[in-house]
Amino acid sequence: MATRLLLLLIATLLFSTPSPAAASPHISAVISQSGLDFAKDLLVPRAADTLAQLSVPDIERSVSIPIIGAVRTVASRIVLGGVAVANSTVAAGDTGVVVAASLSSVNLTMEWSYSYSSWFVEISDSGNASIQVEGMDVGVSMGLKNENGSLKLFVMECGCYMKDLDITLNGGSSWFYQGFIDAFSNHIRSSVENAITNKIVEGASKLDLFLGGLPKEIYVDRVAAMNVTFINDPRFSSSSVEFDIDGLFIPSDKAAPQSDMHFGDTKLAQPLGSSSNMLWISLDEDVFNSVSALYFKAGLLQYMVDKVSDQFLLNTASWRFLIPRLYRKYPNKDMLLNISAISPPSVRINVGRIDTTVDLDVIVNVLGSDDIVPVACISLSVAVSGHASVSGNNLVGKIELNYFSFDLKWSDIGKLHTGIVQSLIRIVLKNLFVPYVNSYLGQGFPLPIIKGFVIRDAYILTSYSSIIVSSDVSFIEPMNRSGIKQVVGSVNKDPAVTMKQLV
Ligand SMILES: *[C@@H]1O[C@H](CO)[C@@H](O)[C@H](O)[C@H]1NC(C)=O
Ligand SMILES: *[C@@H]1O[C@H](CO)[C@@H](O)[C@H](O)[C@H]1NC(C)=O
Ligand SMILES: *[C@@H]1O[C@H](CO)[C@@H](O)[C@H](O)[C@H]1NC(C)=O
Ligand SMILES: *[C@@H]1O[C@H](CO)[C@@H](O)[C@H](O)[C@H]1NC(C)=O
Ligand SMILES: *[C@@H]1O[C@H](CO)[C@@H](O)[C@H](O)[C@H]1NC(C)=O
Ligand SMILES: *[C@@H]1O[C@H](CO)[C@@H](O)[C@H](O)[C@H]1NC(C)=O
Ligand SMILES: *[C@@H]1O[C@H](CO)[C@@H](O)[C@H](O)[C@H]1NC(C)=O
Repeated sequence: MATRLLLLLIATLLFSTPSPAAASPHISAVISQSGLDFAKDLLVPRAADTLAQLSVPDIERSVSIPIIGAVRTVASRIVLGGVAVANSTVAAGDTGVVVAASLSSVNLTMEWSYSYSSWFVEISDSGNASIQVEGMDVGVSMGLKNENGSLKLFVMECGCYMKDLDITLNGGSSWFYQGFIDAFSNHIRSSVENAITNKIVEGASKLDLFLGGLPKEIYVDRVAAMNVTFINDPRFSSSSVEFDIDGLFIPSDKAAPQSDMHFGDTKLAQPLGSSSNMLWISLDEDVFNSVSALYFKAGLLQYMVDKVSDQFLLNTASWRFLIPRLYRKYPNKDMLLNISAISPPSVRINVGRIDTTVDLDVIVNVLGSDDIVPVACISLSVAVSGHASVSGNNLVGKIELNYFSFDLKWSDIGKLHTGIVQSLIRIVLKNLFVPYVNSYLGQGFPLPIIKGFVIRDAYILTSYSSIIVSSDVSFIEPMNRSGIKQVVGSVNKDPAVTMKQLV
C-alpha cells in the first residue's frame, strides 16, 4: 500500500515546467539519494512524534437502537496514541520530493455517548473505545522554489491511508456495538486521515519557515562574508536535488559576527556518477577570486618583515660592502621589509591543481630614529601551488612555493646584488611568507552548510575551474556545537532538539 501511495505521489511530480536558469551560480550543492535518505531519516521520526496525542474532532452520527430507532451518538476525545514508523522512503521526481512512511501499531482511544428522551422513556449511555489500526501509510510530495533568494517549500499533495480499523468498545450494552461500528468506522477513519494530513501540512510549513529563514550571508571575518543567496529554483532529478547559491564573497556586515558560522544547505546529491556521498558542493574559481579581491581592497594582503632567521640580514651593516651607499647613508640601522600585493592574486583551478601567481612589491625600509625610510623597491612575482582540504565545515588550504622572479623597481641606494637579494627573498618567502599565508589559509572559510550539520569524510576533487567537495554529513546537537572542531569527531548525537523546532 505504501508503494501504491508512493507511486501516486510521485506521479504528481512528473510535470516539470523548466524554469529559466537565470543567474549563474558560483556554488552549486547537490544532495544525492543518500543525502535525501539522511534528511528523511532525520525528519520522519520527528514528524511521527508530532502525531502522538493528536486529537481528532468529535464526530456525531446516528446509530440505530432497537425499539427506539435512530439516536444521535457522539464520538469524542478521539486521540491518536503513539505511532511507530515501520519504514519510510524518499524519492525525488521532476518537480519535488516525495516522502512516504508506513506506520505500525497505531492506536486511538475515544469516548462515546448518547442520550435520548421521549415521553415514555429516557435512555442514555456512554463508554469508551480503543481502536487498533492495522496499518497506516502517510505520504507527502513537496516542491521547492526560489523566492527572493530564499527557499520556499510547498506541499503539492499529502495523503494518508488507513488499513482496517479494529474498534473495541467498553461499557454500554453489547447490542449497541455493531450499530456504532457500522455508523462510525468510516467517519473515524476519514477524520483521522484528515487530522493526520493537516498535521503533516502544518509540519511542512514549519520546515518552510526554517528554510526561508536561512541566512543569506555567512560571516567569515570583519572583511568578508559569503553571499549564500539562493539563485534559480532547485533542480530535481530522479535521484538528487541541486541548489544554486550565489557563493561570492561580499564585504561583511561588520555588525553581525556570529560564533558558529556554518549553514547553507546540506542535504544534497551526486552529479558525478556512482559515489554514494550525500553532498556535493562545487565552488568555482570566482569564489576564491572574490575573496582575494576583498582582502586586497581591505589592504590585508600586506606583510611586514622585521625578523628573519638570519637577523643580521636586516641590518645595514651586513650590506656594508655589497651596497656601500646604503651603509653610508644609514649606518648600523635596522631594516624592515614591507611586502604587499600589488593586485589581488588570481586563483586558477584545473584538473588536479590549484595555482596562483602573487605579484608583490617588497619595499626595503630603513628604521630611522623616529621614521621609516623606504630606500628601494623590488617587484616580485611568486608562483605558488595550492592544496585544498576540509576541516570541520571549513574549506582550508595550504600553499607551497613553486618559483619566483624579481626586478628592482627603484632604488635610492644604487644597484642591488642579485644573488644576495635572491637569497634574502628566498629565505623570506620560504620561512616567513609561505607559513604566514598558510596560517590564514589553514583557517579557511566556511562551506555553505546548514547550522547543525557537520561535514564528514570529505574528499576534494579539482576539476576545470572548480573545486568539488564531496562528503557525508552528520547532524549534531545544538548544545554541543559551540566549536565545530570539538565535535567533528563525535557527531551523530540525538538530533531531537533542533529538529523539534522543525516539525
Ligand atoms: C497499541 O496498542 C497495543 C496493545 O493494544 C500495544 O501493544 C502497542 O504498544 C500500542 N502501540 C502504540 C504505538 O501505542
Ligand atoms: C515498507 O516495507 C514494505 C515491505 O517491506 C513495503 O511493501 C512498503 O512499500 C514499504 N513502505 C515504504 C513507505 O517504503
Ligand atoms: C520579493 O522581494 C520584493 C522586493 O523586496 C517584494 O516586493 C516581494 O513581495 C518579495 N516577494 C515575495 C514572494 O516575498
Ligand atoms: C474505558 O472503560 C473501561 C470500563 O468501562 C475502563 O476500565 C477503562 O479505564 C476506560 N478507559 C479509558 C481510557 O478511559
Ligand atoms: C548576493 O547574491 C544575490 C544573487 O546573486 C545578489 O542579488 C545580491 O545582490 C548579492 N548580495 C550582495 C550584497 O552583493
Ligand atoms: C607598505 O607598502 C604599501 C604599498 O606601497 C603601502 O601602502 C603601505 O603603507 C606600506 N606600509 C608601511 C607600514 O609602510
Ligand atoms: C555534549 O557533549 C558531551 C560530551 O561531549 C555530553 O556529555 C553532553 O551530554 C552533551 N550535551 C548535551 C546537551 O547532550
